[in-house]
Amino acid sequence: MNPTWVQHLLVLGTLLGARYTSADTAGSWCYEDPKCGPETWAALPQGHCNGTRQSPINIITPAAVHNPHLGVMSLAGYGDAGKLTSMENKGTTVYVHLADGLHLSAQGLPAVYTAKSFHLHWGQGADQPGSEHFINHKRFSMELHIVHTKNNLSKDVALKDPEGFAVLAFFLQATANARPSQHWDSFTQHLKKVALKGQQTYLDGSFSLRELLGSVNLARYYRYHGSLTTPNCDEVVVWTVFPDPILVPPGVVTAFTSTLSSTDSGARSQLQNNYRPLQSLGDRQVQASSTLRPEALISLLISTAAIAWHL
Ligand SMILES: *[C@@H]1O[C@H](CO)[C@@H](O)[C@H](O)[C@H]1NC(C)=O
Ligand SMILES: *[C@@H]1O[C@H](CO)[C@@H](O)[C@H](O)[C@H]1NC(C)=O
Ligand SMILES: [Zn+2]
Repeated sequence: MNPTWVQHLLVLGTLLGARYTSADTAGSWCYEDPKCGPETWAALPQGHCNGTRQSPINIITPAAVHNPHLGVMSLAGYGDAGKLTSMENKGTTVYVHLADGLHLSAQGLPAVYTAKSFHLHWGQGADQPGSEHFINHKRFSMELHIVHTKNNLSKDVALKDPEGFAVLAFFLQATANARPSQHWDSFTQHLKKVALKGQQTYLDGSFSLRELLGSVNLARYYRYHGSLTTPNCDEVVVWTVFPDPILVPPGVVTAFTSTLSSTDSGARSQLQNNYRPLQSLGDRQVQASSTLRPEALISLLISTAAIAWHL
């Protein structure tokens, strides 16, 4: 058999297998219908959505604690376009399956984490943003989540470990004068092939994760412990949120908000506003990475310099 076909059969097997695993046993939930929307998630049986360490949160940057041990995130294998195997419309997001070989490590993480998939959250067009996390009360156009498990654990096993998952969160911001990105254009061109819930398409190596991330500085991030942002909202995630957005032309954002449907028939069912509302921080602490200087310290230095100047 032609090796490409063998690879496709393997991917197909993985996709079919995934259909029947516990990832889909979270009961029925949705974003926009009040009967199954986020306000109802806390009551889902076996769920954790009513917990005290939930995500997403509003990150207040002056309140973050500077941690000099949080160094640059090292992403190995993320530049390999061949690792992005297929794209699927899950009805609640667009989901990209990743092959083995993408590894995340950094000082401040308890283990090496393996990337399994990524997906996005968005609002309603380029003017109505839909990120999940906020930075200083600001919401961005979209949010990209790369989902990893600790030491390549299976999802079911990782759900039992309070640090079983590491999710990297990157913001996308629609910007009128942003430089066009051939990589995001390739990504959005595939969306037409997965317009309906349940549709999937193989990827052709035209973009890698590293290319989608553009020039975001991997040393500047916030860290906190939280949850999955979809039911069952398990409190098993080490979150890393990069505050500097990936700037994209508005057309990249509208491709998501106008092409995808949340149902398998497509009728009156655009997949939009697929974000969970903010959750309270409670008694948790957000940490700032070593190169993110606390703003309070900077303003102190500036005012000290100003006083010294006057003296
Ligand atoms: C969620 O927790 C709060 C406080 O612990 C409680 O008052 C509320 O009834 C709970 N809601 C559900 C749906 O369990
Ligand atoms: C990681 O886990 C996947 C799925 O369970 C498995 O196919 C793969 O071989 C594992 N990789 C390594 C390096 O152990
Ligand atoms: Zn997500």
